[in-house]
Amino acid sequence: MKTKAIIFDLDGVLTDSAKYHYLAWKTLSEELGLTFNKEINERLKGVSRMDSFQIILEVNHAEDRFSVQEKEKLIEKKNRIYVDYIKTMTPDDILPGILPFIGHAKKAGLKLAVASVSKNAGALLSALGIADQFDYIADAAKIKKSKPDPEIFLDCAQGLRVEPENCVGIEDAQAGIEAIKAAGMQAIGIHVTITSQEPDIHLQSTEELDFEQMIR
Ligand code: BG6
Ligand code: MG
Repeated sequence: MKTKAIIFDLDGVLTDSAKYHYLAWKTLSEELGLTFNKEINERLKGVSRMDSFQIILEVNHAEDRFSVQEKEKLIEKKNRIYVDYIKTMTPDDILPGILPFIGHAKKAGLKLAVASVSKNAGALLSALGIADQFDYIADAAKIKKSKPDPEIFLDCAQGLRVEPENCVGIEDAQAGIEAIKAAGMQAIGIHVTITSQEPDIHLQSTEELDFEQMIR
């Protein structure tokens, strides 16, 4: 078997927390009188908190409206709204198909990692009750470049001691697919809506994940 490891994105792959990031940005944007919608939100997937806010400011031609300190405070506010949402999450929020897929991968002796640029990844994985399923969880605080840079996927490969060419990455964001491909890995895309780079396998939902068929 060529594949020795599977690297999962978290938000939008293991669970549907992407919708809570969206709602939190929407609340903050409305308070600030900034335009924000699902289309803009697609560009924020896989992108760090501050970089996400910069994108919202850019599309509103408001790059210079806030000082760095004000921006720090505002993204903290967005985070408080987001954290309130994810407090309600439980193992029931793991997306369909994920647990059987993880089970098959473990049985086949593969290593598993999480590549999320979210600083809430640890808390969310604990709330979902699956933190101990992974051999390596990237530390977002140590990752310098957001996806589409391959840094976080390469960090996971290194953490697992597996060559990138023997890794499969699973992502719901265009930036994530680009990051996986730039890392030299195979990419499985879950309902990726912007497709400037095609994943190797494209699924409509995690329910379609099929270990026997997709992992070689
Ligand atoms: C990514 C999400 O997983 O984490 C992004 O796709 C989010 O939408 C990023 O901005 C950072 O998350 P957090 O929890 O550190 O604000
Ligand atoms: Mg995602």
